[in-house]
Parts: sequence; C-alpha cells; structure tokens
Amino acid sequence: MNRADRPIGVFDSGVGGLTVVRALRRLLPGESIVYLGDTARVPYGSKSPETVAKYAIQAGEILQRFDPKLLVIACNTASALGLGALQVASPCPVLGVIEPGAEAAAKVSGPIGVIGTLATVQSGAYDTAIRRRRPDAVIHSLACPLLVSLAEEGWLDDPITDSVCRRYLNQLPFEVKTLILGCTHYPLLLPSLMRVRPDTTWIDSGEVTARSVDRLLQGSLGFRTASARGPLKILLTDAGSRLKEIGERCLGETLEGVELVGM
Ligand code: DGL
Repeated sequence: MNRADRPIGVFDSGVGGLTVVRALRRLLPGESIVYLGDTARVPYGSKSPETVAKYAIQAGEILQRFDPKLLVIACNTASALGLGALQVASPCPVLGVIEPGAEAAAKVSGPIGVIGTLATVQSGAYDTAIRRRRPDAVIHSLACPLLVSLAEEGWLDDPITDSVCRRYLNQLPFEVKTLILGCTHYPLLLPSLMRVRPDTTWIDSGEVTARSVDRLLQGSLGFRTASARGPLKILLTDAGSRLKEIGERCLGETLEGVELVGM
C-alpha cells in the first residue's frame, strides 16, 4: 500500500480521545483511522511521568501493526509526558496535542490559561511550548481533575457541572481571556465553561491538532487517495460496560466494530 493510503494511528488513555478523532473526521473525512484507547489503564492524569511514557511506547508498538503513516497522541497527558519517548521509538512521525494547542494560544495576545489533568499541568509542557513561541507569555495553569468524571457522567448541561467549572475557573485571574482545553474530555464541557467564563477564546487542542495533521498530509505524508469516507477501527484494552455510551458522546457517532487488544 502506498504511504498516503496508510491509516493514521491515534492513541489515548481511554475513549476521551475520540473527541480528537471527531475533529479529524470532520476535517479529513477520507482518512483511515485506527484508534487505540488504553481503557484498562485509564486514567493517565494521576500517574507518574515514567509510567505514562512507558504506556505511550507500548501503544505505539500496537499501532505499528497497522503500518500507520502518522501517529497522533490524542491524550494531553501522554503528549506531555510520552511524546519524546514515542518519537524516538516510532518509525513514523508522531504528533502530540500540546504543540498545536500552544501554537494557537501563542498567536492570541494577553495572558493564557491552561486547564488539564494534574500530570499535564505538573509537567509544564504547555508552558514550555508556549514560551518557545512567546518567551514573555504570562501563563496560568490549573489542574481540574473533577471535570473528566463530569464529562464521563454525561452531565454536560447541568448546574452541578456549572458550579464545579466556576469553582475551578474562578482560580484563574479575570484578565485571562484565552484558555486551552488541555484534556481530551473538556470540549464536551464547553457549554458549561462558556457560561462560567464568557468572552473567552477557547482553544480546543483536538481541533487545532486536526489542522496540524492536515498540514502534515499536505506535505510529504499525502492524503488517502480513495474518495469514500475513511474507515475507523477502534481498539480498546478493556471493554467496561459504559465505554460505548461515553465513547459515542466523545465521537458524536455510534461506535461500531470495537476490538479488544492486549497491551
Ligand atoms: N486523556 C487524558 C488527557 O487528555 C484525560 C484522561 C486521563 O487522565 O487519562 O489528559
């Protein structure tokens, strides 16, 4: 198979990364995607850097079975802690969500807020990537661990979610008008977040990553040549009973043909 027709491998700690697949399928509907969600070991957001880097390498090994033209780490935590290790180990290019998110944020003037898991915030990966582009940037990072559970519970339009979002976001100075959604699940909570913090520019790391993938395909990687909608294969390391419901919420489509894989 020529390189352009090979799939894009997407990896996440669970099914939250399907928000990134959703953005990819909107922008690049013809691409073939193989998604690996490490549902047996989620969450990554509370794990150590060494463990997350090890998991990222293992995920890369599984996705290599499909001979991908590109690997995308949809998980912010794994992008923050495992991108370097996976880039070294992988025979194909690897893109994480941090650089595209940082690039988009650095273009907006004023202080920048970053919300994500504890591990992502503690890694300082967004800060480093933003400062590489705007050395004088004022950055306020905040771990919001409860938001993943609220998104998974489906409380997307709920006063309790509004009040948790308010409690977190009120910790950020009022002057912060640009906020990176530095976690796979947060785009689902945008209605609440927007109610709590109107007049904010929200940077969805999945959407900006899809645009970066588009640019990479325009370059040497190439677009899939078939005109039909690209297939989506979903591999999970565990099939818990609620994964279908949560996954469909993230993907915005029905989940078909999920396969279990050992890691
Ligand atoms: N996928 C993770 C992220 O984007 C959130 C869930 C987890 O902690 O594994 O950081």
